[in-house]
Amino acid sequence: MSLQHIAIVMDGNGRWATKRFLPRLAGHRQGMESLRRCVRACLDRGVAVLTVFAFSSENWSRPPEEVSGLMDLLLNALGKEMAQLQADQVRLHFVGERAGLSDKVRSGLDEAQAATASNARLRLNVCFNYGGRWDIAQAAARLAAEGQPITERTLNEATALAHVPDPDLIIRTGGELRLSNFLLWQAAYAELYFSPRLWPDFDEAELDRALAAYASRERRYGHTSEQVAAVGRHPQAA
Ligand code: FPP
Repeated sequence: MSLQHIAIVMDGNGRWATKRFLPRLAGHRQGMESLRRCVRACLDRGVAVLTVFAFSSENWSRPPEEVSGLMDLLLNALGKEMAQLQADQVRLHFVGERAGLSDKVRSGLDEAQAATASNARLRLNVCFNYGGRWDIAQAAARLAAEGQPITERTLNEATALAHVPDPDLIIRTGGELRLSNFLLWQAAYAELYFSPRLWPDFDEAELDRALAAYASRERRYGHTSEQVAAVGRHPQAA
C-alpha cells in the first residue's frame, strides 16, 4: 500500500532519562539521536515526507531550563547536521508559530530552511512551537483577514502543512494513546500506530512494525469494503 507521509509524536524522552537517573535533557539528547536514525531509515525506505512533533505550544510550561535546553539542542543539531542533511537531499521545513521564539532561534530556523530549500529527496517538517488548534485558528484568521470564504478547501490550503499531502501514518511512541494537539486537521484519515517504546528506543525494527501494521489496514475513506475491492485500490479522501 502506498505511503508518502509519516508523522511522529516523539514521546518518552523524559521517562527514558528518569529511568536512568539522568536529567530530562539527556533524554532529549538521546531523542535527537533517535530522530537522526529515523530520518536515515525513512531515506532508506523511500518515504517522501516525515513530520515530527519537536516542541508543542504547551511545552512552554515546562521548567525554563528544559525549554531553553530544547531550543539549544535544536540550534546545535542544525549546525552539526547540516552537511549530512544536504548530502542526503533533505529539505527542512519548520512548522509552527514564529512569534514567541527568540531572534536567535527564529533566524536559525529560517536559515536552515532556506539552505535546504532546493533539496528534494525527503521533506522533513519539524513542528516547533506548534499546536493543531493554533494551525486551524491561524488558517481561519488568515482567510478572514483576506476576506476569503472559509471552506474545507480554502482552510486546507491555508494550514501550515499545505505544502505536503496529509499524513498516511501517525506514530506516537511512549505508550500514550492520544494525539495531544498534533495535526488535528491533517489527521482526518491517517492510520494511527501507538508504540510502547520510549522515543529514544525507537529504532528501524519498530518503524518496520509500524509500516507492517499500516500495510495491513484497509483505508476506506468512508467507502465500503466492497467499493474498495471493486476499484482495486484505496479511494482518496474527498
Ligand atoms: C516528548 O517527550 C518530547 C519532547 C517534548 C521533545 C521532543 C524532542 C526530541 C525528540 C529531540 C529533538 C529535539 C528537537 C528540538 C528537534 P517527553 O519529554 O514528554 O517525555 P516524557 O513523556 O517521558 O516526560
